[in-house]
Amino acid sequence: MGNTKLDEIISANGSNRKSIIPILQEIQSIHNYLPQETLRYVSEKMNIPLIDLFSIASFYSSFSLTPRGEHLVQVCLGTACHVRGAHRVLDETKKKLHIEPDETTENQKFTLKTVNCLGACALGPIVVVDDNYHGNTRAQKVNAILAEYKNSNNNGNNTSE
Ligand code: FES
Repeated sequence: MGNTKLDEIISANGSNRKSIIPILQEIQSIHNYLPQETLRYVSEKMNIPLIDLFSIASFYSSFSLTPRGEHLVQVCLGTACHVRGAHRVLDETKKKLHIEPDETTENQKFTLKTVNCLGACALGPIVVVDDNYHGNTRAQKVNAILAEYKNSNNNGNNTSE
């Protein structure tokens, strides 16, 4: 992303501290992560210490400081999901994607993460792909869930046609 585009994003959101989250969200949505050089530019342009931007980026799980795949797959391992078999769901997801948590598939399609609670415990085990919640997930359902995203981009548009 060029500095002109960054300037546009900053001026559209306003260059005060309150605007930092929407600015970072927009950058994240373009790159699927927050490149360091981009954060450095935003820091200088908005006069916000770089360390503050890193703190925000590290605090919110929706931000990533390392490149992410097109789709973010989050498997909840919180207590309620755990007792309902979340580890079997995670094992199946790892097997299908051939990656471990915090890794990205070779084709850059999926990044796998584990989380401790997604706030929907009654629906556990939960798998969230991008912003879509898949409740009462069983290991046998994992393949069908992932298949929904294999040929689509993270805007939900099918790219196979
Ligand atoms: S423990 Fe999984 S959603 Fe709460």
